[in-house]
Amino acid sequence: MINKYHSVKPVFNNKLPQLFIETYGCQMNVNDSEVVLSILQDAGYALCEKIEEADLILVNTCSIRDNAEQRIWGRLDHFKVLKKKKKSGLTVGILGCMAERLKDELLNHAGVDLVAGPDSYRDLPRLLAQIRGGDKQINTMLSQEETYADISPVRLDKNGVSAFISIMRGCNNMCTYCVVPYVRGGERSRDPESILREAAELFENGYREVTLLGQNVDSYHWVEESNPTKTTNFAQLLERVALISPQLRVRFSTSHPKDMGDSVIHTMAMYENICKHIHLPVQSGSDNMLAKMNRKYTRKEYLERVKRIHEIIPGCSISTDIIAGFCGETEEDHLQTLSIMKEVGYYTAFMFQYSERPNTKAARHYPDDVPSEVKTRRLNEIIALQNELSLISNQADLGKEFEVLVEGPSKKSDKELCGRNQQNKMCVFPAGEHKIGDFVKIRVTSCSSATLKGIEIK
Ligand code: SAH
Ligand code: SF4
Ligand code: F3S
Repeated sequence: MINKYHSVKPVFNNKLPQLFIETYGCQMNVNDSEVVLSILQDAGYALCEKIEEADLILVNTCSIRDNAEQRIWGRLDHFKVLKKKKKSGLTVGILGCMAERLKDELLNHAGVDLVAGPDSYRDLPRLLAQIRGGDKQINTMLSQEETYADISPVRLDKNGVSAFISIMRGCNNMCTYCVVPYVRGGERSRDPESILREAAELFENGYREVTLLGQNVDSYHWVEESNPTKTTNFAQLLERVALISPQLRVRFSTSHPKDMGDSVIHTMAMYENICKHIHLPVQSGSDNMLAKMNRKYTRKEYLERVKRIHEIIPGCSISTDIIAGFCGETEEDHLQTLSIMKEVGYYTAFMFQYSERPNTKAARHYPDDVPSEVKTRRLNEIIALQNELSLISNQADLGKEFEVLVEGPSKKSDKELCGRNQQNKMCVFPAGEHKIGDFVKIRVTSCSSATLKGIEIK
C-alpha cells in the first residue's frame, strides 16, 4: 500500500527552522542526505536553497581519498565565519564517512557543533535538541542492522525523473586500499518489500528511472525473519523491481566482478526495462596489483565476465573505476591496465590516483612508494586513453537507434533536450513537443567523446 500523503519532494516553509544540506561523495551519500531530510522534515525543519538562510547546515562527507577530506576542512573554516556572522545562531553538523572516520577530531573544530556517522541519522532530532542545551554532540555508532528501510527519502534530485534507492549498506570486501568498510560498517541487505514499495511510490509520483544502490549489489541477500528458508538474491530483487512497470527503467550500481553471476546477466537480458549498462570496476589490469588489492579476481576472470555479458546481453555498455599508482605498481603493471582498458573498450571510466587511507590494510602493510609525479603521469595516460576509447565507443553508435529518457534541456540550448539511453550515454536532440520524463526514440547522427547527438524517429 502506497502512502499517498508522504511528500516525495521537499516542502518549503520559511516559518520553520531552515535546513541546508551539502552532499559530497558517492550516490549512497546523495541518497543518505534524502533520508536525513525525511527525518528532519518530520522533526519540524524545512529545507532552504540558500546557505545564508540556514539555521542548520548539514554536510554529508566522503573519505574515499585524501583530497575529498581536504575540501571539507576548507568548508569548515568557511562555516566558522558564517557562524560569527549569523546573530540568530547557526548550527553546523558533519555527517557521513568523514564524520565516522575522524569523530572528535572534527567535533573539536570551532566551526562544528555536531558529528553524526552514517548509521546514526535517526538520532539527529535528539542530538539537535541537546545542542540547543549548549553542548556539542556526537554519535558515530555503527550498526549491524540499520538500513533505514521504513524511511521514505525526500527526493533532492532536480528533474523528478530519476531517483536512487539504497538496497543495502556497508561492505564486507576489505579491498586493501579502501576506507569504506571502516566508515560504513559491515554489509546488510534491506527488506525487499520496502524497496519495492519505495520504487512503486516513485513511479506513482512520475519517476521513470530508479538506480538500486549498494557497494556490491551482487551480494544482496535477504533472509525472511519469520521463515529463514525464504530468501531473496539480487537477481530476484532486480526482477521484482523490473516488474513494477515496463515504463520504469531500472539501473544498479556497483557490481563486483568476483560476484556478478550469470543469473543477474540473464535477468538483465530478459527485461526490456532493465538498462543495458554495467558498472564493473576493474581497478587494475595487472594480476599482481589485483591480488595485492584483495579484489579476488584475476585479469582472465574479469575478461571472462565481460565476454559473458556481451554473449548474453547484446549492446550492453560497460564502465569502470581505475586506480593509478597503487603500492608497488611497476611500469609493466601500468601497461597491463592500459591494455585491459583497450581490450574491454569501456565507454567511460572513473579514474583516480591511489591515495593512502589511514588504518587500511594497504596503509599498514604496503609502502605508498610510487612517486607522486609517476602517479600523475600514469593517471594522465589512463585518462588520455579513455578519451580515445569513449570516442571510439560513441562513433560505433552512429546511425543506431536508441530510446532516451528526457532529463531536461541540453546545456547549450533550450531548443534541445538531453537524456540518457539505456547504455547510460548522454544524448542530445531537438526538443519538438517533448518534456521531461518522456521516452523518445532517436537515431544518432553525430557524436563527441562525451555525447551522442541525434534526431527523433517516429
Ligand atoms: N564499492 C565500489 C566502489 C566504491 S569507492 C567497488 O567496489 O567498486 C569508488 C572507487 O573509488 C573505487 O572503485 C576505487 O576505484 C576508488 N578508490 C577507493 N579507494 C581509493 C583510494 N584509497 N585511492 C584512490 N581511489 C580509491
Ligand atoms: Fe571498497 Fe572494495 Fe567494498 Fe568497493 S568492494 S566499497 S572498493 S572495500
Ligand atoms: Fe561513498 Fe565516499 Fe563514503 S565514496 S561510501 S561517501 S567514503
